[in-house]
Amino acid sequence: MRKPFIAANWKMNKTVEETEEFVNSFLPMVKNISGVDILLAPPFTSLGAASRLLKSSNVILAAQNVFYEEKGAYTGEISPAMLKSVGCSCVIIGHSERRQYFSESDDIVNRKIKTARKNGLDVILCAGESLEEREANKTFNVLDRQLAGSLADLSLDGITIAYEPIWAIGTGKTATKEQANEAHAYIRQWLRQNKEGADDVRIQYGGSVTPDNIESLMSQSEVDGALVGGASLKPDSFAKIVTGAIKK
Ligand code: PGA
Repeated sequence: MRKPFIAANWKMNKTVEETEEFVNSFLPMVKNISGVDILLAPPFTSLGAASRLLKSSNVILAAQNVFYEEKGAYTGEISPAMLKSVGCSCVIIGHSERRQYFSESDDIVNRKIKTARKNGLDVILCAGESLEEREANKTFNVLDRQLAGSLADLSLDGITIAYEPIWAIGTGKTATKEQANEAHAYIRQWLRQNKEGADDVRIQYGGSVTPDNIESLMSQSEVDGALVGGASLKPDSFAKIVTGAIKK
């Protein structure tokens, strides 16, 4: 069985002080929990502080982005080695906000995953369709294109997929558990057809996940966890999602 995996994507939220406050109150809430992997992805500026506080805890530290080159004249960018040196073992790549606001193509996402994996970072790869694409019955075509482009010439080692329908992100409009499971099953089938080891890959759902809907989403056979934005910003809310994700 795949172990449930719950990740917090804080996006552009929390100063260093706010990060410390969160971690100090969140850690005691989850310290005796097993049966679920927990990950925090604070902004770059908070990674050092989070890393110090999370050391020897059961919480994985991740970044929200990384560059595809290993070093050099790339003003403002961050390399995989830099992330590792600050204590990250994972990075989120290809979030829809990066695709939308920073023009990240599947090719760029692919290059980022390759450099991250080469440097030993695990990856959460985000994929998902817009509302227009869903309404035009193009969800599966979009997933085909994103998966083929992002995972070209890569094995599935160290990869988690986050299925995030764009229309459900930050909108309060969650996909129904059936919609989520259908898309996850499609992703799983694509992985089986194209790669080795598809059955071990965890597929998270992302888009308006809350303490109230996590159990219902996790009741689905293909939902292995969640990538949580807004509801991960408060320690008690995120801790409830973590405990709600443990499969009964
Ligand atoms: P949300 O964001 O939970 O606020 O909808 C999820 C995400 O974008 O990862």
